[in-house]
Amino acid sequence: MKDKTVILGVTGGIAAYKAVDLLRMMKRAGANVKVVMTEAAARFVGEITFRVLSGNPVGMGLFDSPEGWDVNHVALAQEADLIIVAPATANVIGKAANGLADDLLSCVIMASRRSVLFAPAMNSGMYESDAVQANIETLKSRGFHFIGPGTGDLACGQGVGRMEEPGIIFEAAAGLLSCKTLDGVPVVITAGPTREKIDAVRFISNPSTGRMGYAAAREAARRGACVTLISGPSDLSDPFGVKIIRVQSALDMQKALDENLPGSKIFISAAAVSDFRPSEPEDYKIKKSDASLNVELVPNPDLLALAGKNKGGRIHVGFAAETEDMKENALKKLGEKNLDMIVANDIRSEDSGFGTETDRAMIILSDGTAEDLPVMKKEELAGIILDRVEKLLK
Ligand code: CTP
Repeated sequence: MKDKTVILGVTGGIAAYKAVDLLRMMKRAGANVKVVMTEAAARFVGEITFRVLSGNPVGMGLFDSPEGWDVNHVALAQEADLIIVAPATANVIGKAANGLADDLLSCVIMASRRSVLFAPAMNSGMYESDAVQANIETLKSRGFHFIGPGTGDLACGQGVGRMEEPGIIFEAAAGLLSCKTLDGVPVVITAGPTREKIDAVRFISNPSTGRMGYAAAREAARRGACVTLISGPSDLSDPFGVKIIRVQSALDMQKALDENLPGSKIFISAAAVSDFRPSEPEDYKIKKSDASLNVELVPNPDLLALAGKNKGGRIHVGFAAETEDMKENALKKLGEKNLDMIVANDIRSEDSGFGTETDRAMIILSDGTAEDLPVMKKEELAGIILDRVEKLLK
């Protein structure tokens, strides 16, 4: 999103206050954001809020004096790399679908040749009405993008019509702005821990949050890949534009891989698969007693090594969580699991490994070349991993 110009159209709905968060996210990501709001939107959030936070004048009236000599709506439409309308009322959707342009925002939308992303927000009855649904279908068929709405609390009760969360809209916008270097490439990614059941309420697991795999899934989707994310239990929200399969145990994950790996071109195994599972899990809750409890553990299959036996031309990327001899151990795993690339982490370091926001990784390729990376956010590391994978694809 860095150095891109985004027009943020804000229309009159309670969710207008959430557009402020969206604006801040885009500014943090380096975008130049220009807000165009309707008069109705100004009843919900003041123009000054958007002006101060965007660092740009806010457009509202069709006949306001433009900054330069350009006709305002044409200038705005031409400089935009992307237009986001959040919240998008039934009214603005209806105008865009039917060629009406009676305020600055609807003129900008009509004059632009760039992507437009609508985040609808309205009462469920309105959203489900034939008129709104027909307008949305019309716009989709003309290449306009929609995100949400979700279901939940509305100004008038519960139901569908709630504007999608700003973080999800941001992700969708970032996807529309990025280069589609993996356009249509099928990618399978595993993420998160697995849970190996002991009884009805107890399990063995590990502290993985899934953040690395989710970041890779998000980044691959932004680059246009068709991503299937097979995730163990994780609190993270579903990445936009990704098919997600939720699993519990290593054996569940294996089944999902068997079904989804054939036909894929890239496999990124970021899951912290439990190496062992209880040999005889109970369906009931084992009652406590003073006696010690022995749980026999049997090894789980190594999913990545198994997939490596029959990988054909697919690129396999593994991770190595190490506490000592990081490079040697990672190289061993690279060979044993038939990988093209391994991302090694020293999980004893405070800024790397399970549950951290950052990683201090070393990327090793199958020809033995190693690249020592500085500490960086997992999201940034995901970008570097995919850059390297793209080179291997070529
Ligand atoms: N992996 C897997 N199935 C397993 C264990 C690991 O697919 N049963 C994958 C992980 O997703 C990761 C890579 O193998 O990409 C290495 O995982 P790691 O935990 O570092 O190593 P292990 O192979 O489990 O070996 P060890 O625990 O002895 O270090």
